[in-house]
Amino acid sequence: MLDALFLATAVEAALAAGRIHRQYFRQNPEIHKKGRIDLVTAADVQAEAMCRDLIAGRFPSHSVLGEEGAAESGSPGSGGASHRWIIDPLDGTTNFAHGLAIFSISIALEIDGRLVLGVVYDPMAEELFTAEVGQGARLNGTPVHVSTRATLEDAMVCTGFPYSVREARHRPVDVLSAFLRETQAVRRLGSAALDMCYVAAGRLDGYWEEVIQPWDIAAGAVILREAGGTPSGLGGEPFNAFAGHILASNGLIHDAMLNLIREVRQQS
Ligand code: IPD
Ligand code: CA
Ligand code: CA
Repeated sequence: MLDALFLATAVEAALAAGRIHRQYFRQNPEIHKKGRIDLVTAADVQAEAMCRDLIAGRFPSHSVLGEEGAAESGSPGSGGASHRWIIDPLDGTTNFAHGLAIFSISIALEIDGRLVLGVVYDPMAEELFTAEVGQGARLNGTPVHVSTRATLEDAMVCTGFPYSVREARHRPVDVLSAFLRETQAVRRLGSAALDMCYVAAGRLDGYWEEVIQPWDIAAGAVILREAGGTPSGLGGEPFNAFAGHILASNGLIHDAMLNLIREVRQQS
């Protein structure tokens, strides 16, 4: 069993980050560009600083990997820390900056290289997804489970595009068009962490993304697994949050999704 303070801290940080999001949302927050289409706002920065302070105050020996942090922080020598928190302080910044209410905060805990806890919070819908290894996944305290849809024909799937999409040539579009052809529906919501949680809760049946960062998917992977779903690499490799790509599903359509992606990759 994990120390109960870990989950309590992740939930406390997620709810506090949600308050920061709500304070800035649709208030014309100052927006900076990290890249041509890659944005950051005061809400991203403040939410991450708050999370780091909370964790440092409570667990000084733990390290933190956060999207808006220049480097891993923590106590001296934390590069080798056994406990590492992986945080996206605002997942869905482009939606947030446009006043579209689909975004979240994502917090995962890794112990000795193994993801053991995930919390994702959508502050607008007030939906809190939580999971600890072996304890199941919950939405606002109620257990959630992946869908039972077993064919692509019946499936609603989701994807995302990286900020490097303009340089990616045709492949993301080719994979997208294959899924449009084979499934009931395809969505692009704009928060990878929520995409993963929605597969966990059975609202979506699958999700893939060709370029992704560990803070986007680490918490969602714990929640998905605990909800009975399957995360993997895009080629079917065992899930690794640091691999740079993701395929997540209810398990039943995993092979069909893998096969479709493989077919497109062989052609392009
Ligand atoms: C992005 C979102 C988006 C996904 C991108 C991510 P950010 O995260 O999760 O859905 O398609 O790949 O970078 O920048 O809003 O934290
Ligand atoms: Ca993100
Ligand atoms: Ca982010």
